[in-house]
Amino acid sequence: MDTHLQDMKRRDFLKIAGLTGGVLIGQHHISGQGRSSSKTAVAPDVILNLRAVLAEIPLVPGTPTQIWKYEGEVIQGSPDNLQALPNSFLGPTIRVRRGQTIRINFTNNLPEMTLMHWHGLHIPEAMDAHPRFTVASGQNYVYEFTVMNRAGTYWYHPHPDMRTGFQVYSGLAGLFIVTDNEEETLGLPSGEFDMPIVLQDRTFDANNQLVYQSNSMSGFVGDRILVNGRLTQSIDVAGKFYRLRFLNGSNSRFYKLAWSDGTPMTAIATDGGLLESPVQRPYLMLAPGERIEVIADFKAFPFKQRRQLISQTFSPMGNVGGGGDLPNGAAFPILTFRIRRRMADNFVLPQTLSTIVHYRLKDAVNAANPRTYPISFQMGNWLLNGRTFEMEGVAANETVGLNTLEAWDLSNQAGMMQMAHPIHIHLVQFQIIERQINASGAVNYEGVRYGYVDSGWKDVIMLMPGERARVLLRFEDFTGKFVYHCHILEHEDMGMMRNFQVI
Ligand code: C2O
Ligand code: CU
Ligand code: CU
Repeated sequence: MDTHLQDMKRRDFLKIAGLTGGVLIGQHHISGQGRSSSKTAVAPDVILNLRAVLAEIPLVPGTPTQIWKYEGEVIQGSPDNLQALPNSFLGPTIRVRRGQTIRINFTNNLPEMTLMHWHGLHIPEAMDAHPRFTVASGQNYVYEFTVMNRAGTYWYHPHPDMRTGFQVYSGLAGLFIVTDNEEETLGLPSGEFDMPIVLQDRTFDANNQLVYQSNSMSGFVGDRILVNGRLTQSIDVAGKFYRLRFLNGSNSRFYKLAWSDGTPMTAIATDGGLLESPVQRPYLMLAPGERIEVIADFKAFPFKQRRQLISQTFSPMGNVGGGGDLPNGAAFPILTFRIRRRMADNFVLPQTLSTIVHYRLKDAVNAANPRTYPISFQMGNWLLNGRTFEMEGVAANETVGLNTLEAWDLSNQAGMMQMAHPIHIHLVQFQIIERQINASGAVNYEGVRYGYVDSGWKDVIMLMPGERARVLLRFEDFTGKFVYHCHILEHEDMGMMRNFQVI
């Protein structure tokens, strides 16, 4: 089936007219913990209703597929704040501006508990989906926060202890796109030329239903690649520059993104928004949870030709293996762009995109003695910091001070079993200042290292077997317990997650 993204362009998004803010009178917060009370009095700029529901959609020809889905409407704001994606299992795309205050009235219409996480956003503890803030079936939760992050591609998904993998797999995920004034001055491709590409993998049974077999060792990978929540294989585009916002929304699959004709990939942004200047790479690594933005020059490409985006082969699995019909690290086509329209385009990619204040190791409170968080495997469990998840537990080396810069070494060099892991840290965007690979990992490392973009703000870092990295993070604005974890969702679910506490 050749579904086109064409009909998903912005102008075709189902736009739901905003209602008035009057309905808010008398509404109260289910949980206001961690919020500064001064903000409560101020009316939010944007109010959304969002529900997690059971649904069915046509994904594969024939019987519709039963899914879990986010849906919602704008209560206050502009219709552009929430863009539904027809016939996609992704939730609506939330688009807001930096500095706006947003309230999301969330309702859980699923048969089990869940909770929402705003991946990459810098928000208070009670808004950030620590797994103890669950929302029971049939219950509501009000998420309210000011968008403090830079312009960029963030996303939202459930975060319940032990059920994140299943719930995301069932369809619960969506994009959260932030714009700001700085970004707008660049004149980057916008409107239909600003195209999200959310990559996920799924397996369907003979009756078109999703199959999920959690593999806590290697993680679950599916044998079909979905683009933006559909089995899209090609997109018609104009001979112009496009901004492609990639999100790896897969449970466990890593991608090595490349143009099949060998054209370099031009990256302009990472997890936390724009780079200082564009970078060119032969391919781009995209681990679960990561985002990367690319400028695609379809103008330079012959009219009526195709340009194919592929995932190249590499070896992320170390000595773990596993992965079914389309194992992690296998090569496969992702998407064909068909250049179908000629259009004038005078866009020139600016060589200065943004300013990033670079942290310095010497400014870290623990510069002389960075904290080390090893990844290891013991008795059938993946461990982080030598432990598995405890709902309230915080180890001695997991407490950090508010308003401090810290150096953390994340290490994937320990133990008998090793594979690649994407480590995600809530609350912050961090900077990667160093990577090292040991002798046993060196050969496989050559197949990925040129695809890392470490010069921007990050909230997920991919670590190959044998690799360790040093990151610098600053803890600001909010105290409380937050989590850091592996973004292979099956690993997170089995406990490869820990608290850190900002005091
Ligand atoms: Cu996208 Cu804690 O996760
Ligand atoms: Cu997150
Ligand atoms: Cu992992």
